[in-house]
Amino acid sequence: MKILIKNAQVVLPSGTTATSVLIEDAKIVDIDPAMQVRADETIDAAGLHLLPGVIDDQVHFREPGLTHKEDLASASRACAKGGVTTFLEMPNTIPHATTQKLLDDKLALAANTSLVNYGFYIGATPHNIADLKNAQRTPGIKIFIGSSTGDLLVDEQDALERIFAETTLPICAHCEDEATVRANQAKYAGSTDVADHSKIRDHAAAVIATRRALDLARRHSHRFHVLHVSTADEIPLIADHADLITAEVCPHHLFFNVYDYARLGTLVQMNPSLKTADDNRALWQALQDGQIQVIATDHAPHTLQEKQQPYPKSPSGLPAVENSLALLLNEVNRGRCTLEQVVHWMCDAPARVWDIVDKGRIAVGYDADLVLVDMNLKATIENESQQTKCKWSPWRDVTLQGWPVRTWVGGHEVFHEGRFDVTRSGQAAKFDHARGGYWKTA
Ligand code: DOR
Repeated sequence: MKILIKNAQVVLPSGTTATSVLIEDAKIVDIDPAMQVRADETIDAAGLHLLPGVIDDQVHFREPGLTHKEDLASASRACAKGGVTTFLEMPNTIPHATTQKLLDDKLALAANTSLVNYGFYIGATPHNIADLKNAQRTPGIKIFIGSSTGDLLVDEQDALERIFAETTLPICAHCEDEATVRANQAKYAGSTDVADHSKIRDHAAAVIATRRALDLARRHSHRFHVLHVSTADEIPLIADHADLITAEVCPHHLFFNVYDYARLGTLVQMNPSLKTADDNRALWQALQDGQIQVIATDHAPHTLQEKQQPYPKSPSGLPAVENSLALLLNEVNRGRCTLEQVVHWMCDAPARVWDIVDKGRIAVGYDADLVLVDMNLKATIENESQQTKCKWSPWRDVTLQGWPVRTWVGGHEVFHEGRFDVTRSGQAAKFDHARGGYWKTA
């Protein structure tokens, strides 16, 4: 099957240009403005931009075990709608994905039910070092250095030293210091004010844990990715280790801050917590300066009923995967960043951080994971039209300009004008860890 996409502004690694892209089966086979070929389908994409599909390297899709919140079918529809063609999912499902068998179970589930491409991290525990050393078909190891949703936690120094010393897969971590959080929880015991969430999971909690993880990575020369950076203070620490360490920021830490509790309450309760407007600004600047390379969502759905319980019974986390690209395209329209930067942060950089083979770029030989976006389209986010099973968004009633309109996964069109083709599944992403990460393949 050959598909020719003509007349789009195509975001290539060398810049954005009007050209034609030919897809044959699952691959991009030609890019040429003067292309004259007969294809099975020819798409006139005049007025639209063609981007590589987004790779979201931090999502929580809840299957198995928590499927009343989300499952791979609903989450991957949300991805297709949002222009996300590959997701890397976290291990705090039930059971926690901490062995090869449990990883393989998730891969088998996704092979049947995910509309988009997928990968699953293996979760670290204090006792599964053999599993971590031998894990295959995974982007890497996830450590909860501070606890969040679920009971995955490794905060004993000996266990952390062993993981960094004895394993070879790239490691990423949730960095909030458990001792600091517990001490703050005791201080605010009895509080039902969700704004106290940011005082309990405070700046110090994030900075102490990130510093500790960076020290481990440096001493053991281990590739390390800091998940969801939330404070300005972590940025210089990360920048000091740019040869070994990459970092990620989430849309909620760019767009929300502690003032939003008054408006949105527990809907914007998440871990790491919201910080200040100064932190928002510093995180944007760190993206611009290249100190943070990746934007990912930490999509963490809970039902509205669960979220509406009074703090601190309300769970942490929010859904974002179907709106993340639009949120950033809107910033392009506002002049805050360029389309090429968005493609770097959301497509190319995550592919390189996790050694994903043939994804993240529009280039000959790369996978035909593509998204057509309409930079002029304005639409308002509504709870009712969300594909995520939890059916709400913290960006409800927000109007954005710039939306995905058509998404291909491996050359197969999965989303077009509000409709999904669920007749084919995505594929397991391939990881070539011998490539050596972001800085070796940039
Ligand atoms: O707020 C969060 N929710 N942060 C996490 O790290 C986990 C997530 C979840 O799984 O609910």
